[in-house]
Amino acid sequence: MPQKDTSPASAGKLISFEGSEGSGKTTQIARLAQRLQKLGRDVISTREPGGTEIGEQVRNIIVHNSKGDEMCAETELLLFAAARAQLVREVIAPALLRGAFVLSDRFLDSSTVYQGVARNLSMDPINQINRFAVGNVMPHLTIIIDVPTQVSLARIRQRASDLPDRMERENIGFYEKVREGYLLLAKGIPERFFVVDGTQTEDVIEKKIWAEVEKRLGPIPTAAAAPQPVKAGR
Ligand code: TMP
Repeated sequence: MPQKDTSPASAGKLISFEGSEGSGKTTQIARLAQRLQKLGRDVISTREPGGTEIGEQVRNIIVHNSKGDEMCAETELLLFAAARAQLVREVIAPALLRGAFVLSDRFLDSSTVYQGVARNLSMDPINQINRFAVGNVMPHLTIIIDVPTQVSLARIRQRASDLPDRMERENIGFYEKVREGYLLLAKGIPERFFVVDGTQTEDVIEKKIWAEVEKRLGPIPTAAAAPQPVKAGR
């Protein structure tokens, strides 16, 4: 059943993609973007952390900082939230207002799972910080691409052209927690999440995601038949 839209930016749709490293998010975001573009729809693909100049600088600090191993979990959480706050206000909210589909490679659930479940920070501050960072912009749908941890780690190793980054150096136990965290989250909020088995072929995953997008958000009209964007300032 299509979800009730509580966002003021109701003309657009935010779809976030979650999953561990190597789950295939990037490929599936590109495929979904292509399907939507074929219908003439305005599509923005972005990623977290990053997606803005400030966000990319923050990403660099978190992921590539040579002193990164000394970064405490609290700092990490706040840096991810800072990048997210900027992305929401600079890119996502304006795009939703003009009626675009926004596809985000990670969003607030990454903090819940990586910093909350895997790094074991308390959920109350994480939820509050997440809410503060996103304001009233919540995903209409979140797609979790689920792969067994060993598959995810093998894919990370395969694609790492140089040294793995700071997050990728985490051990298998960390990634087991990430996977479990996502599955638990999806179980608790089934109306927002869709879990797809990431070990299937890319074509099969793409079809399943498209079917779910249409089921949850309603059939996607072509640009000509789509609702008009919300006028700014009203
Ligand atoms: P990726 O987007 O290339 O997968 O890399 C981003 C890394 O940052 C990945 O290990 C997940 C992690 N991350 C968090 O730990 N918390 C967050 O809130 C976000 C957005 C990402």
